[in-house]
Amino acid sequence: MVTVTLAILLSAVVGAVSAAPVEEKKAFSFNRRTDGFPYPLDEVDKLEEDLIPKFQAYLAKKNSSSHGCTLENAVRRQEWHDLTIPQREEYIRAVLCLQSKPAKADKTQYPGLNSRYDDFVLTHETQAFHLHSTPHLFPAHRLYIWAYEKALREECGYTGYQPYWNWGRTAADPVNSPLFNGNASSMGGQGAPSNYSGVMAMGFQKPYDVIPPGGGGGCMMSGPFANMTISLGPIGGVLPDVPKNPRTDGFAANKRCIRRDVNKNAAAVTFANYTYSLIKNSPTIDKFQQDMLGIPEKNDWGVHMAGHYTIGGDPGGDFYSSPGDPVFWFHHGMVDRIWWIWQMQDPENRMNVLPETPPKDDFVDLNWTVGRENTWDLNDSIGGAGGKFCYIYV
Ligand SMILES: *[C@@H]1O[C@H](CO)[C@@H](O)[C@H](O)[C@H]1NC(C)=O
Ligand SMILES: *[C@@H]1O[C@H](CO)[C@@H](O)[C@H](O)[C@H]1NC(C)=O
Ligand SMILES: *[C@@H]1O[C@H](CO)[C@@H](O)[C@H](O)[C@H]1NC(C)=O
Ligand SMILES: *[C@@H]1O[C@H](CO)[C@@H](O)[C@H](O)[C@H]1NC(C)=O
Ligand SMILES: *[C@@H]1O[C@H](CO)[C@@H](O)[C@H](O)[C@H]1NC(C)=O
Ligand SMILES: *[C@@H]1O[C@H](CO)[C@@H](O)[C@H](O)[C@H]1NC(C)=O
Ligand SMILES: *[C@@H]1O[C@H](CO)[C@@H](O)[C@H](O)[C@H]1NC(C)=O
Repeated sequence: MVTVTLAILLSAVVGAVSAAPVEEKKAFSFNRRTDGFPYPLDEVDKLEEDLIPKFQAYLAKKNSSSHGCTLENAVRRQEWHDLTIPQREEYIRAVLCLQSKPAKADKTQYPGLNSRYDDFVLTHETQAFHLHSTPHLFPAHRLYIWAYEKALREECGYTGYQPYWNWGRTAADPVNSPLFNGNASSMGGQGAPSNYSGVMAMGFQKPYDVIPPGGGGGCMMSGPFANMTISLGPIGGVLPDVPKNPRTDGFAANKRCIRRDVNKNAAAVTFANYTYSLIKNSPTIDKFQQDMLGIPEKNDWGVHMAGHYTIGGDPGGDFYSSPGDPVFWFHHGMVDRIWWIWQMQDPENRMNVLPETPPKDDFVDLNWTVGRENTWDLNDSIGGAGGKFCYIYV
């Protein structure tokens, strides 16, 4: 692919009248599913498509020869429902595989580690504040998902890429969606009924100070991860009756079932109109991030929190341990996707900004999952991380 790109660049230089080399514009297509499929493009999908020409023009002005990644050769992360059932099953097998491999982190230091999968959970726990500091939330999670996708592919032979979850597709009825319906090709279903009283939404006025429960909250009853045992944590969390970890840092073994509350009440603010409005009405990266994290004055929990609590439970509802629920990666994939769409609206001015403008030498270190990277090199999915990032969302 690098050779092809170089050739295109070279022929453009030779053929161009002006001095600036311009990459040849190729037709780009999302190639989304159209086979009588129940998910027509929503307003966010359409916005993403409409922005491509502008983004192509921006990329054409950049010199991509150092990394060779282009819009056309970038790998494509797809929405779960756009995958065929065999593709979904292949993905699930890879996750189960990662959950069966030994951890790389030190089990004597972190006895709660069950598997290689738990290296990722542990990283989110030990690095919780590093991952969630204002400037890091977007770039660090971008790197984190990329590292997870790499592990699925390189350590478990997965041939696809990390799927994302377009919240709007499941917002009306999450528990009956192919993502959460609990059948063998879903990412697991509802939890058993429990009597937890919902999720506190700090800073919101009544009745929005609580996300009411969605009917689950107990052990996940169906789907390929139904019998999954988790062990690290909890450190935070929303369920009152989860057994406490024997160690105050949460790193001891605490074997218990995975619990979920697939929750329509949380999902209610994840319809595509909310996401669209967030992307369109956030002129700065700081506002984009703040509004994604919740707008108390509008009683809007924000798509980030609402997405997390559409799953909730344990560990999904624990700020520290949330990646222990395998849907975490789908949710943060969508967060990463809408950051990219936000960027594409004005690439000249938005590809190179991060919330709170961290120092130039700022870095992200995700310990057992991926090497340390300069934060400023994580702002571009086309060529970021020293050229290792080369993906788009379709
Ligand atoms: C593009 O970058 C490569 C490698 O960084 C460099 O060798 C080349 O001169 C650059 N080309 C232009 C036109 O700036
Ligand atoms: C699982 O759900 C999908 C999507 O709803 C459906 O197409 C498929 O037939 C279901 N499989 C089983 C075994 O129920
Ligand atoms: C219901 O709540 C009580 C305490 O509030 C708790 O002891 C009990 O285990 C809960 N029952 C279920 C089924 O979760
Ligand atoms: C979960 O465990 C039960 C009881 O051992 C078993 O019948 C069921 O097939 C298991 N489900 C999965 C998805 O592994
Ligand atoms: C967004 O769409 C949903 C579902 O169609 C609707 O119930 C809700 O009122 C809309 N919200 C806004 C803020 O437009
Ligand atoms: C990210 O933004 C910084 C600051 O403007 C810029 O120096 C850097 O080149 C950008 N990184 C990428 C990969 O575009
Ligand atoms: C994880 O990364 C942080 C930040 O660089 C570092 O301080 C810490 O020592 C690392 N921990 C391990 C176990 O690698």
